[in-house]
Amino acid sequence: KIKLIIDTDPGIDDAMAILAAFNSPEVEIIGLTTIFGNVPVAEGSCDQLNGLTKTRVADFVHGAEGFGNTYQQLVEGKKHSLTAAQFIANAASEHPGEVVVLALGPVTNIALAYKVDPQLRTRLKEVVILGGAFQSNGNVNPAAEANILGDPDAADYVMEQGNNVRLVSLDVTHQVEFTSKDMDALHGRGRFGSFISDISKFYIEYYRKSYGVDSCFVHDPTAFAAVFRPDLFTWQAGKVLVLTEGVARGMTIMDHCVRNWAAPHAWSDRPLVQVAVAVQADKVAPMLLER
Ligand code: BDR
Ligand code: CA
Repeated sequence: KIKLIIDTDPGIDDAMAILAAFNSPEVEIIGLTTIFGNVPVAEGSCDQLNGLTKTRVADFVHGAEGFGNTYQQLVEGKKHSLTAAQFIANAASEHPGEVVVLALGPVTNIALAYKVDPQLRTRLKEVVILGGAFQSNGNVNPAAEANILGDPDAADYVMEQGNNVRLVSLDVTHQVEFTSKDMDALHGRGRFGSFISDISKFYIEYYRKSYGVDSCFVHDPTAFAAVFRPDLFTWQAGKVLVLTEGVARGMTIMDHCVRNWAAPHAWSDRPLVQVAVAVQADKVAPMLLER
């Protein structure tokens, strides 16, 4: 079983991914860590890595409390005494080579964890990040995807430091959809089915207004699928840089490494990361829906 830490900014699609993960025998969830993002949360980091830029809130996508204004609470949990970064670092040192972190929000906690423990890079099995847009436009503006724009400095740092990083970007998540019919059909299928069905109404309304579709993109669940079914994606190795300034702040640009550059550039010394460039959406969407 994959030992999985989900770093999340719940979030409607985050909730879908978390519930799917708890219903997946391939993974053992050893921790949930939180990060600012879709709606305000208290634990994990509440600030970007640079400590300056105001964090952005996407309550218009996910509702005021992050669950489509349904104000439902499924479970009550107890918080851990460690910070998210320290928790990730400790888990990786206890289980070297076994822990996967699934990052579903801005990657501030991951960057902080690398800073807490310089050995972390070699100890984590993998970091799978929902973030970025390479072939397609962003979803906050033409340049930037929400999670990367949430903390571009942290994202760039992770791209610079990280080993075993895989990126699941809008290029593939915009192909994996749940329709409003799918969500209606979930209603009554247990507590969790009804919960997902209820909270996704607000989410689909956002996509209806923004993209003219009667469905929602299932970003975070798709990134979860990449954790245990990477074979359903096509991966390309490259070096990624994140713009941290200017009008295109948060934009992700990949060196596809298909030629030998005459002179070194800002990408040259970066580690290779794996970027998902295609997805078998006809397999991923039903699999996630079932879970
Ligand atoms: C990402 O941003 C958040 O709104 C979603 O939960 C997802 O993680 C999509 O850009
Ligand atoms: Ca998210």
